[in-house]
Amino acid sequence: MTKNQFTIVTLFPNAFNDFMQTSIVKRAISKKQINIDIVDIRTFADNNHQQIDDAPYGGGSGMVLQALPVIKTINSIKTAHPTAQVILLSPQGQQWNHQLAYSYSQKDINYILVCGHYEGIDERIMPYIDAEVSIGDYVLTGGELPAMVIIDSITRLIPGVIVTDSHLNDSFNNSLLDYPTYTRPEVVLGMKVPAILTSGHHEKIAQYRHQQALLNTYKKRKDLLKKYPLSVKDKQIIEEYKLSIKKSRRKEQ
Ligand code: ADE
Repeated sequence: MTKNQFTIVTLFPNAFNDFMQTSIVKRAISKKQINIDIVDIRTFADNNHQQIDDAPYGGGSGMVLQALPVIKTINSIKTAHPTAQVILLSPQGQQWNHQLAYSYSQKDINYILVCGHYEGIDERIMPYIDAEVSIGDYVLTGGELPAMVIIDSITRLIPGVIVTDSHLNDSFNNSLLDYPTYTRPEVVLGMKVPAILTSGHHEKIAQYRHQQALLNTYKKRKDLLKKYPLSVKDKQIIEEYKLSIKKSRRKEQ
């Protein structure tokens, strides 16, 4: 039986159809490395019209998702998965990143992901929530896209889901961005693959890739380098790059 369980609590179950039938997530499901269940909050509406939202107390625009249908949904999932951790997707949550994805992938994977919608959810669901997660400082129309982001980023880190070691080179894995990659053909519209990559010299290729990852990070995300333990050689590579930029600027003048 699959151990790694995600249960999504949503008002839009169909939003996950393509996600579950695509690429690595699809393969992980078919190899029983993960299981994804989707539960429609409307199933737990306590009226004939299946209404699960209402106007906010105190006034204001928009509709608020009612607490009880959400609490009932969580409780019913918990009868099958009593140890599941309940994660609320919300722009107010802790910001998701690669380190968090890694730590979530190393625990027992049994998560209930609650997708909010409308203007928000009645605050009285909070005692049923273990963690609140945001995927960035912007407001989306609902938690469905964030739930997919979280499941995708955790799943690819589960041992055996993608080719061993391939995620060790991931951008952010060691606070460096990725090095540039190339595939056939060797020349595209006059642009050649760096010669070192076709040399077959594995040690030199590894050095080159590290150097490129370092410079990529320096050019695009200097802030990440503050967390990275630069070696003497690394510092030299960056200094040489800065010098080459200065020289090329002087030539242009
Ligand atoms: N719901 C709406 N916006 C969100 C965000 N940025 N992260 C997580 N859940 C959300």
